[in-house]
Amino acid sequence: MSETHTVTIEPLGREIECRDDQTILDACLRAGVWVPHSCTHGTCATCKVDVLDGDVDHGESSSFALMDFERDEGKTLLCCARPESDVTFEADLDVDEELEVFPVRDFTGTIIELEDIAKDIKRLKIELDDDLGFNAGQYMRVIIPGTDGIDRTWSMANSPTEQRIIEFQVRNVPGGVATDGWLFKDAAVGDELKLSGPYGKFVLRTWEEDKPIVMLGGGTGLAPLASMVKHALEDEAYEGHITLYAGGATAEHLYDVDYFRELEEEYEDQFTFHACTSEEAEGFRHGHVNTVMEEDFKTLSGYQGYMCGSPVMVEACLKSFMGKRLFPRDIFHEDFFNEADKAEGGLNSPLIKR
Ligand SMILES: Cc1cc2nc3c(=O)[nH]c(=O)nc-3n(C[C@H](O)[C@H](O)[C@H](O)COP(=O)(O)OP(=O)(O)OC[C@H]3O[C@@H](n4cnc5c(N)ncnc54)[C@H](O)[C@@H]3O)c2cc1C
Ligand code: FES
Repeated sequence: MSETHTVTIEPLGREIECRDDQTILDACLRAGVWVPHSCTHGTCATCKVDVLDGDVDHGESSSFALMDFERDEGKTLLCCARPESDVTFEADLDVDEELEVFPVRDFTGTIIELEDIAKDIKRLKIELDDDLGFNAGQYMRVIIPGTDGIDRTWSMANSPTEQRIIEFQVRNVPGGVATDGWLFKDAAVGDELKLSGPYGKFVLRTWEEDKPIVMLGGGTGLAPLASMVKHALEDEAYEGHITLYAGGATAEHLYDVDYFRELEEEYEDQFTFHACTSEEAEGFRHGHVNTVMEEDFKTLSGYQGYMCGSPVMVEACLKSFMGKRLFPRDIFHEDFFNEADKAEGGLNSPLIKR
């Protein structure tokens, strides 16, 4: 039987209860206390904190994200740490006051749509058993059917005003448990799923309307950016200008191009869209999203940059953004880490703000 411990969050001084089979991050987010986190799978190190008092089990923390000497110094990753006694930890809780915090909750969902939308990419629509409040850009953890509780993280591509039916856009990863082993194999409309959320700090900063935004999305890295664009334009949540670059290897790897081109026409003063392909293709900009963006802007001083995709793509985009004089504090990213990245230690670039 599980035991419950008291966890104290400094410098807030707030106390919450956490079971010894539950991660401290999970207990915080369910209690509505926002603590820094990104991947929620022990890879990115965003949730690293100092344990001031008490003992924790470091669980699945990758030895790259939490090194041995850091464990000895009393650091832990909240997304993996489970309390073995009452615990006090100190975190950098520098959270924007404007950010609305939606406590994490459990949901049951039913697949209502499963469609091939590009080469190796599916659109998955799920009807939830209750309304989900979230910020545009956040993600869910989905328990993969047929596994022993293995979960994977997928970002909402729909606007947050649509709270009952959520949309994921998912790329097949050969050998992957969730994609190759289930979604692209056995999954079917009508299947029931267990999921929880919302998670993540990659959100549209609707309160910074004075700064125009450049967004770079690689492959299904477009998903959270799509949610942000829909929220900004269709829900009138953000009045600044957005330039979106969506990239794929070939034209067959791109999706929703017509949708974004129509949005560009409808919101011509507020939205610009570029579909980019690594292989030359008629009607598309040629190159990776970051190199195409570099051709278009002399400087990005005064802008905000959002980027999402594989860790390698995010690293390349970060260099491009910084080369265009974008301040690190104005750069926001979501790395689509998978199990291979975790095993290899992710991409702990010294350039990346965690
Ligand atoms: C915050 C966040 C949001 C995300 N949002 C999206 C999204 O919206 N859309 C999307 O498509 N993806 C998204 N991802 C990625 C997603 O979570 C999964 O990683 C992806 O769907 C692959 O899952 P999988 O179970 O199929 O592959 P995995 O089982 O994770 O396997 C991935 C690859 O790693 C290999 N592998 C497995 N274990 C090991 C090991 N121990 N050592 C070396 N190699 C190994 C596998 O063979 C496979 O090739 C997101 C990731 C994060 C962190
Ligand atoms: S959120 Fe804990 S390591 Fe990424």
